[in-house]
Amino acid sequence: MSTHPWWQTTVIYQIYPRSFQDTTGNGVGDLPGITSRLDYLADTLGVGAIWISPFYKSPMADFGYDVADYTSVDPLFGTMNDFDELLDEVHARGMKLIIDWVPNHSSDEHPWFLESRSSRDNPKRDWYTWRDPKPDGSPPNNWVSAFTGPAWNFDETTGQYYLCTFTTKQADLNWRNPEVQEAMLADLAFWLDRGVDGIRVDVAHFVMKDPELRDNPLVEGEPVLNTKDHGEYDLYQHLHDKGHPHNHGLYRDVRALLDSYQPERFSVGEIYIADWNEWASYYGDLDELHLPFNFSLLWAPWTAQGISEEVNTAEAAIPPGGWPSYVLGNHDNNRIATRFGEEQMPIAAMLLLTLRGVPTLYYGDELGIPERFIPPEQQLDPHGRLLPGAGRDGCRTPMQWDSSAHAGFSPDTAETTWLPLADDWAERNVAQHLDDPHSLLNLYRRLLAYRRSSADLQTADYEQLAAPDGCFAYRRGKLIVALNFTDEVIELPFTGEVELSTYPDAEAHAGRLRAHEGIIVAG
Ligand code: GLC
Repeated sequence: MSTHPWWQTTVIYQIYPRSFQDTTGNGVGDLPGITSRLDYLADTLGVGAIWISPFYKSPMADFGYDVADYTSVDPLFGTMNDFDELLDEVHARGMKLIIDWVPNHSSDEHPWFLESRSSRDNPKRDWYTWRDPKPDGSPPNNWVSAFTGPAWNFDETTGQYYLCTFTTKQADLNWRNPEVQEAMLADLAFWLDRGVDGIRVDVAHFVMKDPELRDNPLVEGEPVLNTKDHGEYDLYQHLHDKGHPHNHGLYRDVRALLDSYQPERFSVGEIYIADWNEWASYYGDLDELHLPFNFSLLWAPWTAQGISEEVNTAEAAIPPGGWPSYVLGNHDNNRIATRFGEEQMPIAAMLLLTLRGVPTLYYGDELGIPERFIPPEQQLDPHGRLLPGAGRDGCRTPMQWDSSAHAGFSPDTAETTWLPLADDWAERNVAQHLDDPHSLLNLYRRLLAYRRSSADLQTADYEQLAAPDGCFAYRRGKLIVALNFTDEVIELPFTGEVELSTYPDAEAHAGRLRAHEGIIVAG
C-alpha cells in the first residue's frame, strides 16, 4: 500500500464545463454532460481526479469566474441534484472531484455586493474595497486591471470607486474584514460537507493587498512579458496590488479547514509568480496550499535545455517534503499543439506524465486540439475584448468526441455551439483517435496506464541525467526517461529495455532516439 496521500499520485484532468459536453442542445456544456462522459475519463483515459472550472450562478461576464452565489449551480449548467449525481458517479469510479474556488472577487451581482454598493453606511460596505476619487476625480491609485485599464470602477450611487482587479463586473472582496473571511470559508465548507475532494484556488496570490493601497512602481527598463500580452499591466511592478504576506495566514486558515475533514481534502492554487522563492512560499511549512500550480513550462523555451532548466529550478525551489506540479495547458493559455507544434505533442505528453509530481491535463490536449483563431472583434472572452490579441476563446472550443454534427459535443438538434469547433474536428476526435494505434490519445492512454502501474513514476525522486544536446533525460527510480526535442536522430549513452516509446512500434532502442521520440527505459 502506498503511504502517499491520494493527491500526490493522481493525475488531474481539467474540464472547462461550457465546452465538455452539452446535453440540452443550447450549445453550452453542462454538468449532466460531464457525468455522461465519466467512463471516458475513468476507463478510456484513466485519470484520477477531475477539476471543473466554475459552474456557480453567474452573469458570465468572465464565464463563471464572476460568481454571484458561491453555494449554487447556475441553471445553464444544471441543478444541485445534477451536481450531487456527478459527485456520486465520480466517486463510484474511484476518481476525485476538485472544484474551483474564487476568493479574490465576486460578481457585482452577488447579493453581498448589491448591498455593499447600496449606500456608504450599509453593513456590507466594507466587504469590498471602496475609496474616494482623487481630487481630480481620477481613481484612488495607479493599480491596473489584469485585463488592462484601471483596476477601479466609479459608482455613481455613492460617489466612490470600488476595486476590481479583473473586469468591472468582478469586485474584489475585502478579506481584511473578518466577516468576509467567515462567510467565504462557510461557503467553502458547504462544498466540503457535500463531499468534494479538493479545490483549485483562483488567482490565489491576489487576495491580500497592501492595506495602504500604495501605488505600484513602474518596471525599470524593458517589461518582461511572462505569459501573454497583458498590455499596460506589464508596465508595473505588482508590489502592492497582490502577493501581500498576509496571504499566508489566509491559506493556513484554508488548510486548517481542509484538514478538519476526513478523508483528506486537497488544494491547488493558481500562482502565476515568476520569482521561485515567492512562488514556493505558498507551500508554507507544508501547512498552506498542498500545491501551487507550476506554470513555468508554459512560457519556457520548448527546447531540451529550456525545459530541463525549469524542472531543475522547480525541484530546487520546492521545500523539503513539498510535492511538485506541472501544467502544459489550461483555459487561459494558447493550446499546446499550436505552441509547441504537432510533432512535439508525443514528448510533451511523456514529459507531463513522467516528471515527479502532479500533472494537470487540460481537456482536449490528449487529442492535440489546436488553438482556434477567433478574430478580436468576434472574441467573447472579456480579456480578448478589452485587449485585442489576448483573447482566450481559441483554447476553449468544444471537446471533439466524434465526426457527427457538432463533433458529438452538442446534440444534432443544436443550432450552433457557443464557440466554434477547432478546424480539424472531423478527423481529430476521440472516436477516430481510438481507432488509430498511432494517435496521440492512444499514447496518452498507454502513458497513463503505465504511470498507474509504476510506483517509480508516481513517487520516485527525479534526477537529471547527462545526455547529448537536444535530449532531456532523467531518472525516476529504476526508470530512465529520454525525450528528443529535435527532428534529428540522437545517439544515447543508455542501455536497458524500452518499456514505452512514443512511437507505437517495436523499433525503439535505449541507445537511440528517433526524431521527436520519447522513451521510458528500465535501466
Ligand atoms: C484566473 C482564471 C481566469 C479568470 C481570472 C479571474 O486567472 O483562470 O480564467 O479570468 O482568474 O477570475
